[in-house]
Amino acid sequence: MTMIAEHMSCIKQSASSVVSARATELKQQGKDIISLSAGEPDFPTPQHVQLAGIRAIVEGKTKYPPIPGILPLREAICRKLKRENDMDYTPDRVIVSAGAKQVIFNALAVTLDPGDEVIIPAPYFGCYVEETALCKGVPVVVETTQEEGFRLSPERLEAAITPKTKWLILNNPNNPSGAVLGLDALKALAEVLRRHPQVWVLSDDIYEHLIFDGKVFHSILDVAPDLKDRTLVVNGFSKTFCMTGWRLGYGAGPQVLIKNMTKYQSQSTSGACQVSQWAGVAALDGDMGFAVRQRAIFQERRDLVVKRIQAIPGLKAETPEGAFYVYVSCADLIGKTTPDGEVLSSDPEVATYLLNEGVAMVPGAAFGLSPFFRVSFAVDTKTLEEACRRIGAACAKLT
Ligand SMILES: Cc1ncc(COP(=O)(O)O)c(C=O)c1O
Repeated sequence: MTMIAEHMSCIKQSASSVVSARATELKQQGKDIISLSAGEPDFPTPQHVQLAGIRAIVEGKTKYPPIPGILPLREAICRKLKRENDMDYTPDRVIVSAGAKQVIFNALAVTLDPGDEVIIPAPYFGCYVEETALCKGVPVVVETTQEEGFRLSPERLEAAITPKTKWLILNNPNNPSGAVLGLDALKALAEVLRRHPQVWVLSDDIYEHLIFDGKVFHSILDVAPDLKDRTLVVNGFSKTFCMTGWRLGYGAGPQVLIKNMTKYQSQSTSGACQVSQWAGVAALDGDMGFAVRQRAIFQERRDLVVKRIQAIPGLKAETPEGAFYVYVSCADLIGKTTPDGEVLSSDPEVATYLLNEGVAMVPGAAFGLSPFFRVSFAVDTKTLEEACRRIGAACAKLT
């Protein structure tokens, strides 16, 4: 008999954390490795937000916070949802947690009975599948294609729904593909959802401010406000406000769901770090000029990396409309032989080969759609240029 529960054998360690750890290990051994594996902006937390955190510490706002989050932050979240998304929520319909990841976990934990299904379009952010499995639900992965721009089609959604379906997870813009669901795509999905009232929508909007080429973000609730009673809006501070280490995210949804998520959180982690929450108030109520500047920088990097990757024989990449990743097809590398005589048979093997050639990236297998690898362009342009040069040189050595 083993001490560790059976369900632990069904879940994997977060892939980007594994690749990042391996890259760090190699660097410590003196290898020259560029990591394009991180899912976090390389910019510092904006200064006015940093200062609000420091002020909270000095003012002694360091006690246990209320479980669902401090009221000023939940009020600021409601103002933000109204101002930016035209959504009407009250603080009792909002929960603050230690990151969007925890919000998603809480939601799945309080809604899934064993065998309940969660539809997850691939490629996906890995935690959706692993958290569903941890909560004894069944992840139903629905693949999208590069040709369709990695967008879930209404036909595929319809075909995946069963009486056991509890959730559809929509991540818009998407990690890892950068795909953005526009009004028409959302309308088509909403039409399907209307025919299946048992299906709830978890709308992970964490990259909403990272949409390029002047396009604007739309939520499923923009096109289908009638789905509000079965939608959980998930968002956080990690990406827009460069606050990955502050661990702060939130969910807004029907009261019964938020109440149960709060109950669950009360017996697990309690309220999120109070210092982070006060910083979160400053973030949401503060000037958003920095986000506009960051978006412009990310767009420049995106253009650079897509151009470079597209010029490498054997790789295919579409221009992502959002987030800070390019999902690169390496289908044409599969079956090729490395200088060491190894035949590349999967994207993890391609990623390992590229890591040995000096660039760390997460393989598509971790996102449920192969053969691809994800390039994170949350690094400066000089580093990106050098990484692309190394990837190109490594591909050229394959026979
Ligand atoms: C799509 C998506 N949702 C949620 C998260 C988690 O964010 P947080 O840091 O708020 O837990 C990430 C982080 O990579 C993400 O890519």
